[in-house]
Amino acid sequence: MNLSNHSETYTLVTGASSGIGKEIARELAKRGHHLVLTARSEEKLQELAAEWNTLYKIHVHIVSLDLTEKNAAESIYMWCKQRNITIDAIINNAGAGLFGEFHTLNLDDQLNIIALNINSLVGITHYFIPDLEQLEKGYILNVASIAALYPLPYYSVYGATKAFVLSFSEALRHELRHSNITVSCLCPGDTNTDFFRNARNTNIKKSLMPPEQVAKAAVDALYRNTPVVFPGNMKLISMIPRLLLKKIISRRVSKYNL
Ligand SMILES: NC(=O)c1ccc[n+]([C@@H]2O[C@H](COP(=O)([O-])OP(=O)(O)OC[C@H]3O[C@@H](n4cnc5c(N)ncnc54)[C@H](OP(=O)(O)O)[C@@H]3O)[C@@H](O)[C@H]2O)c1
Repeated sequence: MNLSNHSETYTLVTGASSGIGKEIARELAKRGHHLVLTARSEEKLQELAAEWNTLYKIHVHIVSLDLTEKNAAESIYMWCKQRNITIDAIINNAGAGLFGEFHTLNLDDQLNIIALNINSLVGITHYFIPDLEQLEKGYILNVASIAALYPLPYYSVYGATKAFVLSFSEALRHELRHSNITVSCLCPGDTNTDFFRNARNTNIKKSLMPPEQVAKAAVDALYRNTPVVFPGNMKLISMIPRLLLKKIISRRVSKYNL
């Protein structure tokens, strides 16, 4: 049965408590979309829900949970099902990195990066696709990174997870090309968020993209059905041949303070 999308459909945004996810959620709120926001920081989500509910007259639900937990994707799906909340768009944004030499970083911390950046994204996508198929239109946007295009020394696990996200998104887009579901992938460059502090990286560039700019590019891409979006001047970087890009990156990382 095909259900028409109606005003009571919601967009699920993971990692909505800060940075790019928060700004994507704000951009969606401004455009009148109802939201289900997830992250671990319950208080931050509550504040955003209250603010946007008043400012934009939208419904905002929050689900506070740790996406590295094994059953996190199923929990979010069941949470929505039990409340009859119809999700028509998914923004798989939550993600984190760890900076340093692979062999000196804690193994569990790095496995948690994989659980967050890959397992939860794959799990959420898998749970929700059958429900999206029941709607007139369904949307998925996965947040990768410009780092999906090249190996990233000192962020080796992080970079590899983002290569996974880009590859997975493009493959899924192809599989669903005759369906009602579109799949887009966002590949931002360095953006002014808590990402670097959380990754314990003190080598922060001076020119960082504002998360609001990245968010606008993301939401435009989602509704214009853009396959892969490189916000700002990342489009130019994405066109550099891979071998040259690897050389540029290795020169850049050689200046890092470890
Ligand atoms: N900033 C950049 O330069 C950049 C560049 C390219 C791609 N990206 C990607 O953009 C996405 C957003 O990152 P950001 O830059 O906005 O960083 P951020 O400000 O640190 O935001 C990360 C978000 O993910 C949530 N999160 C982290 N760990 C979680 C966990 N275990 N369970 C549930 N939620 C969790 C955080 O919320 P809680 O802490 O409240 O849980 C937060 O809302 C990530 O996928 C990142 O890889 C960032």
